[in-house]
Amino acid sequence: MRLAAVIALTLVCAACSGGSSEADPEPTTVPPGPVATTTAASAPARRPLMGTAVRADALAADTAYAAFAGETFDVLTPENEMKWESTEPEPGTFDFTRGDAIAEFAAAHGQTVHGHTLAWYSQNPAWLTEGAFTRDELVAILERHVSALVEHFAGAVSVWDVVNEPIGDDAVLRPTIWSEAIGPEYIEIALRAARAADPDAALYLNEYGVETPGPKADAFDALVRDLVARDVPLDGVGLQMHVTDTFDGSGLDARLAVFADLGLDVAITEMDVRLELPADAAALDRQAAVYGRALDACVAAPNCMSFATWGWTDRYSWIPSFLPGWGAALPWDENLDPKPAATVLESALR
Ligand code: G3I
Repeated sequence: MRLAAVIALTLVCAACSGGSSEADPEPTTVPPGPVATTTAASAPARRPLMGTAVRADALAADTAYAAFAGETFDVLTPENEMKWESTEPEPGTFDFTRGDAIAEFAAAHGQTVHGHTLAWYSQNPAWLTEGAFTRDELVAILERHVSALVEHFAGAVSVWDVVNEPIGDDAVLRPTIWSEAIGPEYIEIALRAARAADPDAALYLNEYGVETPGPKADAFDALVRDLVARDVPLDGVGLQMHVTDTFDGSGLDARLAVFADLGLDVAITEMDVRLELPADAAALDRQAAVYGRALDACVAAPNCMSFATWGWTDRYSWIPSFLPGWGAALPWDENLDPKPAATVLESALR
């Protein structure tokens, strides 16, 4: 078992037996009532680590947000703070300030950090995307970046999304600065550099739209199978799960089993369930059921290590600015009050 997994399981047990000794912040309680319709509403026999994405600026400025995040979750994912544009704004010059802020917050609250992300097509600085680099130069740039981040956060970050969203919506390798200049080998190069920099960190590929069967899932699975067959260091996969209230979760157990059969861990890494606005009570109940189905699947799968939402409150969600007309995607509302989905998750939280 990897050290990261040992730490994770230890954390689970500590959370199960004690819980936080901090004073209760607002909000802490989920109103009683038979809102949830899933089995996840009763205490699960096995509890994956529960996580959320967080924003460093909100942790610093919003005391109620910070207090609840520190008390409620086991794992924090920096929503933007460890991405390339934040961490290497100039070539070879690293800025860990905002990532460190989240790592320090997590350590202070007995939490671990899910690192996000090392090689992606988005949120890269102009010097990288507009530079005219040769293949060898880009390989060296990628290795330098991965090594610097993974070494810097060793001990704080237990899991890394080493490569984010490698497959396009057309179910082939996504054309990016990495795949176009280096070729598909960029994935292996990043994974090997990460393993060398911190042998104790678990290394994941993270992808959206592969939580249901289909051409994109097939392409993702083929990529993962190839890496495993060639003994490339890969410990797990992240299923992002940015879905809607019409999401059909019936195939989720089978998707998690695909990776178990390959000897890999899996994590729900970025779940949110967006609703068309304005959202009525029926939509909120459908949303709760979708969250509950996903949590049930994760609880039931021994290889499902963690279940994280992409933020926890609608006060800070990427959805409304990216998908106008949609929102209300997270389990707690803009006032930090619990929605039916929060009730579904409650039994698994700290
Ligand atoms: O940092 C600048 C800030 O300086 C500027 O004042 C402000 C003005 O708009 O923009 C800020 O950058 C924004 C950044 O979030 C930080 O807030 C970007 O415009 C905005 O595009 C960026 O959005 C992020 C998005 O990834 C970018 O693709 C979202 O917050 C973040 O939630 C989202 O996360 C992704 C995951 O990384 C991968 N999976 C999908 C998920 C949702 O898109």
